[in-house]
Amino acid sequence: MASSTLTITDNRTDRTYTLPIEDGTVRSMDFRKIRTSDEDFGLMMYDPAFMNTASCRSNITYIDGERGILEYRGYPIEVLAEHCTFLEVAYLLLFGELPNEAELKNWVYEITHHTMLHETTKKFMEGFRYDAHPMAMLVSSVAALATVYPEARDIHDPDNRLLQIKRLIGKMPTIAAMSYRHSVGFPYVYPDNDLSYPGNFMNMLWRMVEPKYAANPVLSRALDVLFILHADHEQNCSTNTMRSVGSSQADPYLATAAAAAALSGPLHGGANEEVLKMLDEIGSKQNIPAFIKRVKDGQEKLMGFGHRVYKNYDPRAKIIKWTAEQVFEVTGRNPKLDIALELERIALEDEYFIKRKLYPNVDFYSGIIYQAMGFKPSMFTALFAIPRTVGWLAQWQEMVTDAEQKIARPRQIYTGQRTRPFLPMEERQSAVLTKA
Ligand code: CMC
Repeated sequence: MASSTLTITDNRTDRTYTLPIEDGTVRSMDFRKIRTSDEDFGLMMYDPAFMNTASCRSNITYIDGERGILEYRGYPIEVLAEHCTFLEVAYLLLFGELPNEAELKNWVYEITHHTMLHETTKKFMEGFRYDAHPMAMLVSSVAALATVYPEARDIHDPDNRLLQIKRLIGKMPTIAAMSYRHSVGFPYVYPDNDLSYPGNFMNMLWRMVEPKYAANPVLSRALDVLFILHADHEQNCSTNTMRSVGSSQADPYLATAAAAAALSGPLHGGANEEVLKMLDEIGSKQNIPAFIKRVKDGQEKLMGFGHRVYKNYDPRAKIIKWTAEQVFEVTGRNPKLDIALELERIALEDEYFIKRKLYPNVDFYSGIIYQAMGFKPSMFTALFAIPRTVGWLAQWQEMVTDAEQKIARPRQIYTGQRTRPFLPMEERQSAVLTKA
């Protein structure tokens, strides 16, 4: 049998090195041994944007991007979306197994009883500008939780970690809902412990003067399914942020706020809001060919298309398309769906998208459902952040307990100047201003 090693010849020295291959990877640190002299630092791997670098071992989420497969702890996403609630899936992601009846009951009780915000956090949120973006409010408010729970800094105590995990999962919908109420000028609504996780979220968003809010069961289930689909996605930009910030042993509220900030960008979770803007701009089916031309000319991006890992149809987008039909039976059809479907049809037949393996991703159809359900586009990314908090926390917990992990600290290739003589003030030219 062929040996699981890699043999490299350094043509600078004619020396040969044999490196072990484990799980389809070689260790970057092994390259450090490849040196031209004792003074030489040794070879490094250069990988901007982590195109081909595994940063951890993880047993949480599996993706086969070529075949469009997504599994949480070995369960296909389609099966979980059909049979489970979001909190059941949250338990699976965090603890590795699906809960039995008693475990689930207890877990739901625990999360439900952590949905309330400390009044100081509520007051903090009242200070935001009237037109603040919900994601900016969410990021800041999650960070502000660190002021309420200073004990969260003790990340080495498993019980303490679990308490903060429950608090974060419980409070995220409350913060997201209050961000929304703030942006429309409505009074905040407190959680209702009689309601399900998505039902309570809808209560905090939309209850007005009625004494008890009752969510439409189809819409509440659709939201729960969307939460399941967004719960984790292995080492994406925000999860990598969670792990990186967490690796400094910062507390989980601050690490989660950082991860949520990473999620807010338009290339990541912010794409769902951008898709709606794009569909609005396209306006009608007849404008699609001209829009596609602009994309191919590099003047626009087809938001909600393309993925670093999926080079096939994103399995989440398939489930979302199916969920959309159920939602529209209640809400009426969102006319933007027809533009999106036509956009997808044309793009999938076009050489530009075929050659680059660009398919709809999770963000392509989710906004259309959210809008039909009554969410305004600026809320869409907060809707992503609520469930992804579970994934961030599962990955954070895995990182904290992984003996191989240390503070995340990449290397660089320095391209600047070296040790220069100091210039007294009177001798300095306005080089920067002149260049600008
Ligand atoms: N529209 C037009 N062209 C695209 C798109 C797109 N949406 N995505 C990628 N391309 C082109 C890109 O220009 C490049 O072409 P070329 O080889 O000629 O330079 C090629 O496809 C490869 O793209 P890339 O930018 O090198 O790929 P990446 O892995 O660095 O980026 C991505 C992945 C998701 C950031 C990118 O596909 C993108 O910007 N998509 C639109 C934003 C979006 O929908 N983001 C949500 C991602 S899924 C959920 C999430 O992460 O939150």
